[in-house]
Amino acid sequence: MSKKTFTLTNDQTGENWTFPVVESTQGPSAIDIRPLFAKTGHLTLDPGFTSTASCSSGLTFIDGDEGILQHRGYDIRDLAENTSFLEVAHTLLYGDLPNRKEKEEFEKNIIYHTMVHEQIHHFFRGFRRDAHPMAIMCGVVGALSSFYHDSLDIWDPRQREISAHRLIAKIPTLAAMSLKYMLGQPFVYPRNDMSYAENFLHMCFSVPAERYQPSPALVKAMDKILILHADHEQNASTSTVRLAGSSQANPFACIASGIASLWGPAHGGANQAVLEMLKQIGHKNNIPQYLEKAKDKDDPFRLMGFGHRVYKNYDPRAAVLKSSSDAVLDELGVDDPMLELARELESIALEDDYFIERKLFPNVDFYSGIILKAMGFPTEMFTVLFAVARTVGWISQWKEMIEEPGHRIGRPRQVYNGPTLRPVLPLKKRPAKG
Ligand code: SDX
Repeated sequence: MSKKTFTLTNDQTGENWTFPVVESTQGPSAIDIRPLFAKTGHLTLDPGFTSTASCSSGLTFIDGDEGILQHRGYDIRDLAENTSFLEVAHTLLYGDLPNRKEKEEFEKNIIYHTMVHEQIHHFFRGFRRDAHPMAIMCGVVGALSSFYHDSLDIWDPRQREISAHRLIAKIPTLAAMSLKYMLGQPFVYPRNDMSYAENFLHMCFSVPAERYQPSPALVKAMDKILILHADHEQNASTSTVRLAGSSQANPFACIASGIASLWGPAHGGANQAVLEMLKQIGHKNNIPQYLEKAKDKDDPFRLMGFGHRVYKNYDPRAAVLKSSSDAVLDELGVDDPMLELARELESIALEDDYFIERKLFPNVDFYSGIILKAMGFPTEMFTVLFAVARTVGWISQWKEMIEEPGHRIGRPRQVYNGPTLRPVLPLKKRPAKG
């Protein structure tokens, strides 16, 4: 069968140019426009990347219309119910779910890298105690590269693997330290006799004054939340990591750039913004007026935790979180009116024409904050937890890009719309304004 192509015609000159199609294994194929500028002297313009693939990738597949999310072909619901976060991490990094031997080896590699250099404690001292933990994470994760000169050669596969293990292992330790610093409590060292999720909860919530033993249900809930946030195709923060990595920056610097991008309320900062929004709404009687605000183009208020660039159906991660929220809050003995308010808000919004026409559904951030709050995390920590999980996706995407033969530095072009050439006038001849 002949290769698929697309032909572009210049309607003014009648010239035609033909471009090959890059086929996908599932989801949309792409017109390969790499030679477009050389052939036509024209660029394409797509500021939000609504119709532009920045790369080919085999890590994650999303079908936005059907509400499907798969990692390396495994459905997210299957993974959330039947695997652990480190098994998903292995899958994203190496391509398949680990067998028993691979699982034990990978878990050992991660667990034995969880401590951070003692000097890093001093980085925290420079922050105010009320610093947002995402500000701290941007700083200390970027600083990690200054401790690991032995694994910064991105062209050495073994050094890439060691950096990936170090980042996956140390990010929860740093996240827990940012929480402890904010609370004014002593840092808690990681333990090698605990699972990844249990160790993270231990470093976040244990104090010297008493024993801390999270219930297995709480550990499972934490692990499931990490799985649901692990990777998500070429979202803003992952694209940031890839662009930073395309300049051959070291992986620690690239992950720090991803943390910075994730912080925005339109992206990973939305989970914190959802709780703040629910507090602002306060009572279900106020929902109609806030829905009107969300629809009003002149009002900056948006329904946080709703809408998605790719999902035009229910975000499967939100569905898993919604269904487990009751169980987690019951397990914790928490009766949070915010959960009822969120459910009421969702049901009213999903019957509203504005949201129906625009296919705006709850996304991963809509319910995650309610569960994290019930687990005892302050709202400022919600995006940090997102970053802990997404570090697995970021470093796996970075590795895939670096290993891709012939990858090049990312350098988008622009449509220039500024002034054309004009003379520099001496100061006394420059026109007065206003
Ligand atoms: C994440 O990309 C990813 O995969 C991200 C993520 C991941 O795992 O990495 O899934 C994580 O970031 C989830 C999204 C979290 N953000 C929020 O919940 C913030 C609220 N959502 C919106 O800001 C918005 O929906 C975005 C940013 C998520 C998506 O923005 P788009 O794709 O640019 O959509 P848009 O702004 O063009 O919206 C289309 C229309 C517009 O109305 P019209 O101009 O057509 O009249 O829908 C409206 C928007 O005004 N709209 C909303 C809305 N989201 C979109 N109106 C009210 N409330 C909203 N939440």
